[in-house]
Amino acid sequence: MANIFPRWSNLLPLKIAFCLGTIVFGIALAFAYYATPKAQVVGYQPTQPIPFSHKIHVDQLGLDCRYCHSFVDVAGHSNVPSGNTCWNCHQHVQKDSPKLEPLHRSMDESYPGYDGKPIEWVRVHKAPDYVYFNHSAHVNRGISCQSCHGDVNKMEVVYQAESHSMGWCLDCHRAPEEHLRPLEEVYNLNYNDDDVKKYTTDSSIKTTKDLGKQLKDTFNVHPKTSCATCHR
Ligand code: HEC
Ligand code: HEC
Ligand code: HEC
Ligand code: HEC
Ligand code: HEC
Repeated sequence: MANIFPRWSNLLPLKIAFCLGTIVFGIALAFAYYATPKAQVVGYQPTQPIPFSHKIHVDQLGLDCRYCHSFVDVAGHSNVPSGNTCWNCHQHVQKDSPKLEPLHRSMDESYPGYDGKPIEWVRVHKAPDYVYFNHSAHVNRGISCQSCHGDVNKMEVVYQAESHSMGWCLDCHRAPEEHLRPLEEVYNLNYNDDDVKKYTTDSSIKTTKDLGKQLKDTFNVHPKTSCATCHR
């Protein structure tokens, strides 16, 4: 019996599969590129309305994170401070700095351009809406800002230092001992192995990781990994 299909058609299914594969891959790539908000990319560093430096205010002036991010240890959401917090100092300090013009517009009733509107800080870190996250549940169990936001105390301008992907969350939920610290050290971004001896008389505990293991056992820290923990 004669073959109904010409010989060249033998390769057709393969060719079609290849083309479709390429198209699907292209779409997935484009989707991943456009659908991922910029705010979830490591290195994202938007320009802020005032060039506020954490390096000056934390490292040089010694302010605690909670002086400005005052809800971080009591609520799920960490606030960015209102203009009042800055005005406490800057109605007296660096009054004439041109960098503080937006603060005067927001807070200084005697300023010609005064409009009383809040300063519009650009958000750097943002979890997607379908993710449940809670700050106080972390900082009150001994996880420092540094584990999730990097060396903010050295930043002239805040940028995203960690990926904040699902795999990243889970890495720590599976091995929190790598990050656990005494609660007194959560806001100390210079915490290191030299601080460990303040918290133990056991000479076999030398590094922050050794101490992390001990804290995990003592305080029974067991972050959950079930889907419903973060997707509710
Ligand atoms: C004097 C007030 C002040 C202090 C003290 C302070 N911050 Fe901030 N922080 C701000 C302001 C204002 C912003 C918003 C502007 C910006 O992103 O630079 C901010 C932004 C941030 C952000 C980025 C928020 C976002 O949009 O995702 C992080 C993370 C952060 N701070 C962490 C810290 C940590 C950690 C400490 C302590 C080591 C600290 N801050 C101390 C005022 C402060
Ligand atoms: C506890 C007091 C205090 C608070 C609160 C504070 N600052 Fe400052 N800030 C200072 C001091 C002091 C300096 C000067 C540091 C220096 O010159 O070394 C300064 C410097 C600055 C500068 C640099 C000015 C220049 O011309 O170089 C900016 C901008 C600034 N602060 C913005 C802010 C903003 C925005 C806030 C609120 C989120 C804030 N500060 C909260 C005390 C404070
Ligand atoms: C376990 C990781 C983790 C720790 C620890 C952590 N953060 Fe965050 N932070 C996040 C995530 C994730 C977001 C984004 C949350 C969202 O979009 O709801 C965020 C957002 C923020 C924001 C922006 C909130 C906004 O609405 O603009 C600030 C400010 C902030 N963190 C400050 C801090 C400070 C200060 C500390 C330490 C006292 C800290 N964080 C500790 C993970 C962490
Ligand atoms: C550096 C370590 C670390 C990282 C990173 C981390 N977590 Fe956690 N998480 C913990 C620890 C520790 C606990 C507390 C476990 C306990 O209390 O036994 C916790 C608890 C939680 C809880 C339970 C809170 C509650 O209300 O009971 C949620 C939800 C959560 N994490 C979500 C996240 C999400 C979402 C991310 C990523 C954006 C994340 N975590 C990243 C260490 C981490
Ligand atoms: C510790 C917190 C945490 C747990 C537990 C968790 N997720 Fe996620 N998940 C996240 C975060 C954070 C994102 C957002 C990641 C991003 O923005 O890149 C995410 C994103 C997703 C997405 C969107 C696609 C993607 O990968 O970006 C799916 C689907 C998902 N999770 C399913 C699950 C399932 C199924 C489970 C249980 C096996 C689970 N998650 C457990 C934190 C978690």
